[in-house]
Amino acid sequence: MSNILINLFHPNYTGSRGNKILAETVQNLPSVTFRHVDTQCSNFTFDVAREQELLEKYPVIIVQHPVMWYNMPPLMKAWYDQVFQYGWAYPADKSKLAGKTLQLVVTTGASEDAYKTTGAYAYTISETFRPQQQTASLCGMQFAPIFAVYGVRPIEIGGVSDKELEKQAKLYVKLVQKYSKKKKCL
Ligand SMILES: Cc1cc2nc3c(=O)[nH]c(=O)nc-3n(C[C@H](O)[C@H](O)[C@H](O)COP(=O)(O)O)c2cc1C
Repeated sequence: MSNILINLFHPNYTGSRGNKILAETVQNLPSVTFRHVDTQCSNFTFDVAREQELLEKYPVIIVQHPVMWYNMPPLMKAWYDQVFQYGWAYPADKSKLAGKTLQLVVTTGASEDAYKTTGAYAYTISETFRPQQQTASLCGMQFAPIFAVYGVRPIEIGGVSDKELEKQAKLYVKLVQKYSKKKKCL
């Protein structure tokens, strides 16, 4: 049985370069249950019981998405808003998520240099996603170091090469394989 749930949030998957190759590379691994959440949700309304039931089953939750305005896509925010409820997700000592790992896998349009303290955006990717780290902490989850693929934009405007994307996809597989051994929550 798979022990890793990957929830992909991508509002324009047909136009995707990066998330598509990442998703296609890991989605059929035996330890993975993969969902493109956008295709399973209408009008930004979730079946909360179903989402919670799924999250309860898996010790490792991977949330994959493109960075949009230094943040998550809107549907992903709605998912947190609706599913991570008081008494179920928090406080940590009552959380059904306690001990699980929350792993973000993100792609950015900007290059890695922009996400340096001396770069154009001034904040690193982990600083940018502190609110998610805090969410994990509130829910008693372990927040893993973010797996980021930078510079995912068209090659004509300086985006990373297909070869680099394939390399990153292989690193994603390694990350998933590392988690495939986590059977139980701590
Ligand atoms: C509305 C919107 C906002 C975006 N905001 C950011 C941003 O804040 N930082 C960034 O690095 N890239 C930003 N991007 C670029 C996306 O992150 C990039 O296109 C995506 O990661 C590429 O992945 P994909 O090929 O799977 O679509 C934005 C793109 C869109 C459409």
